[in-house]
Amino acid sequence: MSYEFYKITHIIFLLVFVASTGIAFFIDQQNKQVRIAGMISSFLMLVAGFGLLARLGIHQWPTWVIAKLIIWLILAILGPILARRLKQNRIWAFRALMILFAVGVIVAVLKPA
Ligand code: HEM
Repeated sequence: MSYEFYKITHIIFLLVFVASTGIAFFIDQQNKQVRIAGMISSFLMLVAGFGLLARLGIHQWPTWVIAKLIIWLILAILGPILARRLKQNRIWAFRALMILFAVGVIVAVLKPA
């Protein structure tokens, strides 16, 4: 598969992942379909990320890749837990997660190191 294919997939699943996080927080906390959509989209986004790395010929991860992996891990694990369990300050948790998504985009574009 081409670089373009992986990049488009990476970004489309990023959109679904963000949307699922929002729905899980504010629309339907117990909806199983939303949880599954979040899990599958985050996973496929990761797979597409590795596809991109392969197409770019990056075998030894630079710092920006490690940073994105850590951000992805936090979002994929903490997002669903907070959406289901958190009773107070939900808006603040959601804002923090959205900031993390934004940092992921900034790191992706600027590749600081
Ligand atoms: C939530 C976390 C993430 C966000 C928000 C994110 C976002 C993005 C965006 C917006 C781009 C396009 C950048 C551009 O065209 O200049 C991109 C590219 C890319 N992402 Fe991610 N990503 C995330 C996680 C990951 C992970 C976990 C990996 C590694 C497995 C990864 C690997 C890549 C690679 C290799 C590119 C291509 C960079 C290039 O073309 O120069 N991303 N990402």
